[in-house]
Amino acid sequence: MKLLCSVLLLPFCFGRLLAQCPLPSNLMNEAGEKLCARMFEHSNMYFDQSCSGDHLDSKNGDDYPYMPLGWGKKISSLVVANRCSLKVWSKSGKLGNNRTFNAGVFYQLKDYANGLFGNWNDAIQSYFCTCT
Ligand SMILES: *[C@@H]1O[C@H](CO)[C@@H](O)[C@H](O)[C@H]1NC(C)=O
Repeated sequence: MKLLCSVLLLPFCFGRLLAQCPLPSNLMNEAGEKLCARMFEHSNMYFDQSCSGDHLDSKNGDDYPYMPLGWGKKISSLVVANRCSLKVWSKSGKLGNNRTFNAGVFYQLKDYANGLFGNWNDAIQSYFCTCT
């Protein structure tokens, strides 16, 4: 895709940039497999530029009391597929605060309260994703 971002195809590239978060209704990986959630390394105050950086995919039933290597306290935005929900915890082993994200686009996890004073940006340390 990056290769396609030549001068000639610039409008196409901007098109991608301006609609970065995937839709909950059509959430799948590059192989076309249905996902429960996709979590992203970065977010942006401009919502159309959120869901950037590396991503971590979760399928129905994925249960991670400990984050996959390198993903602890790293997630800043996420999308949960329709009819799915992603439960997250602020400490590994499903401890600390928890929150359930239902189907939808969560552009900036810093907008979601984690305890009295904190937020969920770079705070997820454990997760469980399920779909009905
Ligand atoms: C989520 O947090 C609440 C409040 O601390 C707690 O009562 C509940 O057991 C937690 N749920 C899970 C599944 O960890």
